[in-house]
Amino acid sequence: MKVCVVGGAGYIGSHTVYELIDAGHEVVVVDNLSTGLKDAVHKDASFYEGDITDFASLDKIITDESRKKPFDVVMHFAAKIVVPESVKNPSLYYYNNVEGVRTLLDVMVKHGIKNIIFSSTAAVYGEGKDGICTEESETKPINPYGETKLVSEKMIGWFAQAYGMNYCIFRYFNVAGAHKSLEIGLLRDHLTHIVPVTIQTALGIREKMTVFGSDYDTYDGTCVRDYIHVSDIAYAHVLGMKHIALNNISEIINLGSNQGFSVKDIISEVEKHHPVNHEYGARREGDPAKLIASNKRAKEILGWTPKRDLSDIILSDLEFRKRHKK
Ligand SMILES: NC(=O)c1ccc[n+]([C@@H]2O[C@H](COP(=O)([O-])OP(=O)(O)OC[C@H]3O[C@@H](n4cnc5c(N)ncnc54)[C@H](O)[C@@H]3O)[C@@H](O)[C@H]2O)c1
Repeated sequence: MKVCVVGGAGYIGSHTVYELIDAGHEVVVVDNLSTGLKDAVHKDASFYEGDITDFASLDKIITDESRKKPFDVVMHFAAKIVVPESVKNPSLYYYNNVEGVRTLLDVMVKHGIKNIIFSSTAAVYGEGKDGICTEESETKPINPYGETKLVSEKMIGWFAQAYGMNYCIFRYFNVAGAHKSLEIGLLRDHLTHIVPVTIQTALGIREKMTVFGSDYDTYDGTCVRDYIHVSDIAYAHVLGMKHIALNNISEIINLGSNQGFSVKDIISEVEKHHPVNHEYGARREGDPAKLIASNKRAKEILGWTPKRDLSDIILSDLEFRKRHKK
């Protein structure tokens, strides 16, 4: 299939492009490089620097490319994703994440592209009442980032109904790890994700890390989350794309591992390789004690389960950071 990947120079988008190309698909990446890196784009993909909030430039790219061969699918990764930034600057998040999706959908409608894969997030579940989220769990985001994703999900639903489109909305949990080639991984200034922060500390790139809260109602007092390897997430997109396009159907699917690990578990796993200089601090506002995905639907509908476990996630990120020294 011919696939347009918006946000394909970013962390999850670039890994998905690698999986798509491995599976023999033709890929065109559109990215404004606000957080993405051009070097992360697979050499066999075409690349355009462009912004999905700009109808005219996106329309031109799609028009030019469609002359060669029409697109079958669009995959969306082009979002702003930093929760505290979304609290400080909600306008930026609504503009980029919601207006961006609306503009993208308008361009898709104009060009008759019927299939969209959308990267959503566990943040749509908010505090996740009992800690285990199924796709039917209540959606109640607690920050503008999560809200913009939920609004976009709903907008995609209405566009699909109005224009006969198919969608696959994936709600990811904690994504981590790096590609087996070690060419791509999570590279960014001011990383806040727990896995890279722990590994940067282990490698001496950071002096020390703080664990936020040790008095949660969990088995060891630290927060429990569902960690999933980025290449497992990426592969699910290849399956999701085929499923909706061939069956003319729409889905909402969690991508997680069905099990939780605490912050202490992450530190212990990294400490199998290097010691981690850490201290315990106060809780952060808005951090639920436990958030785990039920991945039953992903298994039933796509036949997808994660192939990599926590030790694979840690080892791949560790090797990636050793190589890139970041
Ligand atoms: N990283 C996670 O743990 C995680 C968890 C849940 C959901 N997600 C979702 O996955 C998606 C990708 O996240 P990521 O971690 O790869 O982030 P990222 O910042 O690495 O990637 C986003 C990419 O989109 C590009 N981009 C942003 N706005 C754009 C615009 N208006 N036009 C064109 N390009 C634009 C950026 O330059 C970047 O390359 C997001 O939609 C995010 O909500 C991520």
